[in-house]
Amino acid sequence: MSQLNSTLYGIPLKNPLVAGASSFTARPEKVKEMEAAGIAAIIIKSIFEEELQLEEFKLDESLERYNNLHAEMITTHPNLEYSGDQQHLLMVKNVRAAVTIPVIASINAVTREGWVKYAKDLEAAGVDGLELNFYSLPLMENISAEEIETGHIEILKAVKSVVKIPVGVKLSPYYTNITGFVKRLDDAGVDGVTLFNRFFQPDIDTLKEKESVTFSFSQVGDNLLPLRWTALLSDKLNCPVTAANGILDEEDVIKALLVGASSVQIVSTLYKNGLQQITEMVEGIEKWMELKGYASIEDFRGSMSKDKQQDPWAFERIQYIEMLMKKSIMF
Ligand SMILES: Cc1cc2nc3c(=O)[nH]c(=O)nc-3n(C[C@H](O)[C@H](O)[C@H](O)COP(=O)(O)O)c2cc1C
Repeated sequence: MSQLNSTLYGIPLKNPLVAGASSFTARPEKVKEMEAAGIAAIIIKSIFEEELQLEEFKLDESLERYNNLHAEMITTHPNLEYSGDQQHLLMVKNVRAAVTIPVIASINAVTREGWVKYAKDLEAAGVDGLELNFYSLPLMENISAEEIETGHIEILKAVKSVVKIPVGVKLSPYYTNITGFVKRLDDAGVDGVTLFNRFFQPDIDTLKEKESVTFSFSQVGDNLLPLRWTALLSDKLNCPVTAANGILDEEDVIKALLVGASSVQIVSTLYKNGLQQITEMVEGIEKWMELKGYASIEDFRGSMSKDKQQDPWAFERIQYIEMLMKKSIMF
């Protein structure tokens, strides 16, 4: 019988499958079902400071406390003591109580006070670790990439200084120099990085000539981006890497482990294929390990990372020229 034990942000797991943050992981009954299906850990739906700020500003509006809400949003940090975050903490406690596997809370904050306050409150609620979601949609041309990245490093350090539980970071793929930034996180003591988050993108309805919000799940092949970056980064880092985005079946999990991931996060496949997909993926990994004669994940994890590739340039090559020149490929 193969041993599937692995880790997420240094937290021991019974297998490498983690349910990523989504609406499913905010529901105690769904989380119980996931545990029964074999999931190794849960990342709870994020607390979104921006959403809570908006709720508070709507309340403020009704009280007519401000004449110009937009200006207030730009110039002040809102008071965080209101019902929104209390509701979230209650949900976190209920999810924590529903299962015995590790439960990680996820934070999407805006202000430094928000990151630090939510981190302390969530640790007090009994979670086993924290996931910080770092991304930025830079709309002001006078802010440099360096300032944005330094701000994120400072938030990590501030959160690490107030909690004892492990702190991981889930990243956007849109950094100018992802290698440099992840190395800075590693040096600052991050307990693990997840490559990558996936963002909803606004769209246009051409008939109505209106903007629309499309809700699309990950597709086959989306895992190639985290696969490349896990392969390129896993040898360089002290902290573990978790792969996410487009991990849909056991084949995708095995690939991520081969290039050095310690665990994977799954979301879209649970929505598309149901929670029994967890059991199928765990069984699929076990079968493959038995076929290959591997007794534990560590027997093969990282065996195909960039430094161990037969073609060491495979994950570095960004040009398609060589592929296009191959006579066997007809376009
Ligand atoms: C319905 C839904 C809700 C999500 N909610 C969150 C969330 O609260 N916080 C977060 O960091 N990511 C959230 N995500 C992103 C996922 O955690 C994950 O990073 C992304 O879907 C990529 O993984 P996948 O390809 O397995 O779906 C959500 C995704 C979906 C589909």
